[in-house]
Amino acid sequence: MPGPLVIGIESSCDETAIGIVRGRELLANIISSSVDEHAKFGGVVPEIASRAHLESILGVLQNALNQADITLAEVDAFGVTAGPGLIGALLVGTSTAAGLALATGKPLYGVNHLAAHIAVDRLDQDGRVGGKWEQAIGLLVSGGHSSILQINDLTREVITMGETIDDAAGEAFDKIARILELDFPGGPAIDRLAQSGDESAIAFPRGLAADSLNFSFSGLKTAVSRYLAQTPTAVKADVAASFQLAVVEVLIDRAFRVIAQTGHETLVIAGGVAANSRLRALATSRAEAAGIRLQIPPIGLCTDNGAMVAALTSAAATAGVAPSQPALAALSTTDLNRIVWP
Ligand code: KG4
Ligand code: ZN
Repeated sequence: MPGPLVIGIESSCDETAIGIVRGRELLANIISSSVDEHAKFGGVVPEIASRAHLESILGVLQNALNQADITLAEVDAFGVTAGPGLIGALLVGTSTAAGLALATGKPLYGVNHLAAHIAVDRLDQDGRVGGKWEQAIGLLVSGGHSSILQINDLTREVITMGETIDDAAGEAFDKIARILELDFPGGPAIDRLAQSGDESAIAFPRGLAADSLNFSFSGLKTAVSRYLAQTPTAVKADVAASFQLAVVEVLIDRAFRVIAQTGHETLVIAGGVAANSRLRALATSRAEAAGIRLQIPPIGLCTDNGAMVAALTSAAATAGVAPSQPALAALSTTDLNRIVWP
């Protein structure tokens, strides 16, 4: 059984993205980003993002249909990110998806962006076989969220065990990149610069007490700013590498403590920051030492994309989760208590 043919639409932030899957197989993944239009503001401007989604979404859809070599009439279900995200941006995706579902008479699934980041690990793509795990501990690290999750059933029950009390990990990367006068988004820029830096050059603080399951990155941000203000001879690459290690160590330490406490054998790391090379390397060595299974999506599927929405929708449809109302309400903030919209 190849599974349902699903179109997934993502428009929660600055990527207008559509993915198409059949069961777990990725057939198309098209992304149009408005990141260049936001760069000069140092962050995503919601109105610009909404307009960019409107301008590009139908072209992205056509390209995705071409790439997958399918027609709309063949599609079994439509999925769309219904939250969390920028409300005007989300509405472009939910309106488009609702229109497509209505026109074709096929079910519509409004899905949670955070669960979708994790679901993308299950896809088969370019010879990589997707994760076959059912229960796992999840480390979700993106521009808006940093959470440790207990995944009991990805389409029905995900429990948040710890989360950031201030900045998200990606947000911390973006803010420090700005202070270092690097490009936006800051994560990839810091990742690149850090390659030529000494990560043990500066001992930045690790935030909350090691036994907490929550994260805090605002103290680290202050420490980096203070260091730069007080050190005329500061080497940017050393600052980037030392900052990156501070963030990555805290994230990985917390995740592995939960793995040890709960006895889970699988750790899934997802979200934009999961593209970070240092995080991937540290997680890999810690997982080998602990003898657990580590699942991280391919780098290209860590940041926002439509394949992740299609992956979660396909999993929900296959598991018999009821589709959403056609007039589903997008939510700018929502936690994982809602994975598929009613
Ligand atoms: O998941 P995502 O694409 O969007 C949200 O849902 O927020 O994550 C975007 C975040 C940005 O903050 C970006 O700087 C960060 O992911 N990011 C990285 C890397 N690539 C993207 N952070 C660290 N290292 C990277 N290589
Ligand atoms: Zn995201």
